[in-house]
Amino acid sequence: MTTARAWLTAAKGLWDPGLRAAVDRLDPHMRTVAAYHFGWVDRDGNPADGSAGKGLRPGLALLVADALTGAPEKALAGAVAVELVHNFSLVHDDLIDRDEARHHRPTVWSVWDDTTAILVGDAMLSLAHEELGLSGSPYALPASLALTAATRELIRGQAEDVLFESRADVTLDDCLGMVAGKTGSLLAVSAAIGAILAGADQRTVDACHTFGFELGLAFQIVDDLLGIWGATEVTGKPVFADLAAAKKTLPVVWSLDRGGDAGEELGRWFSGRTARDAADLAELQYAADLIEKAGGRRWAAEQADAHVTAALAALDPVGMSEDGLATLTDLAHFVTERKS
Ligand code: IPE
Ligand code: IPE
Ligand code: MG
Ligand code: MG
Repeated sequence: MTTARAWLTAAKGLWDPGLRAAVDRLDPHMRTVAAYHFGWVDRDGNPADGSAGKGLRPGLALLVADALTGAPEKALAGAVAVELVHNFSLVHDDLIDRDEARHHRPTVWSVWDDTTAILVGDAMLSLAHEELGLSGSPYALPASLALTAATRELIRGQAEDVLFESRADVTLDDCLGMVAGKTGSLLAVSAAIGAILAGADQRTVDACHTFGFELGLAFQIVDDLLGIWGATEVTGKPVFADLAAAKKTLPVVWSLDRGGDAGEELGRWFSGRTARDAADLAELQYAADLIEKAGGRRWAAEQADAHVTAALAALDPVGMSEDGLATLTDLAHFVTERKS
């Protein structure tokens, strides 16, 4: 069986040249900024070997196409496109969240400025659809439409993520809807686009979409946990940034809603803060301990596992190669076991 890790590494060998070729189409300034974000150059444009993303979304697109047809290259443009949309969302997300570090490096807005971050994100989004259009695939249009719909959902989720920071009445359902948009939609389309470009029938596309969606929910829950209890030297992101920004992440909202006395104390902690005001480390550690005491950490970990189970169940009726299905299964577990 090919492990998820081995697949992601091999898949990168396929999609990375396509991503670089797409970025090369940009004007020199945007090209440098995008290449910096991807870790290929330093801020002055000199070649670098910076740490990069996990490549989960393009790896998933290629894996689905491989599992269905044995021809992962059919989904190559889709893989490049989902990685571009993902990184468009990351560059804008860091600006929105005012996060200063990603992949152990200063973020684009903090190296250049807000305008540059907005423009390079927009540039990546346009490259994504150009990539599909240039692919020559007979399924380029449905692939592009699926990606557009997912992007629309992602934007809804990102808008809610920010709106919820200053709302005290966010319910667990609100929060799940937000996560479904900001993260579920792109993982869903990453799996679905592999099936679309492989020429699969609608039922198969839908099943792959559900697989990716459920995986996306598990993924974001784990991201929320790592945002509180992850080691910053492994995640490459700032410690406690979500709590400092008063983000209504799933473990937080569950704790506020069902966390008993510790949840009530957490509510007082949140109401004493306005979003984005400075908080010292001890204060943030106190809030993290309250979430743990309230049971939010345990609940979130159980939920992540439940979504992985739901993701795998969606693939039951799909005809796939045994090896492909085994790797998809390993990939689903990789999501909940990851440390970065
Ligand atoms: C980060 O996604 C954004 C979320 C949806 C939580 P990843 O953790 O997959 O980002 P990279 O590409 O590996 O950096
Ligand atoms: C993840 O946003 C979703 C998108 C980027 C669309 P977060 O703000 O939750 O993720 P990180 O932790 O910064 O990667
Ligand atoms: Mg963020
Ligand atoms: Mg965010």
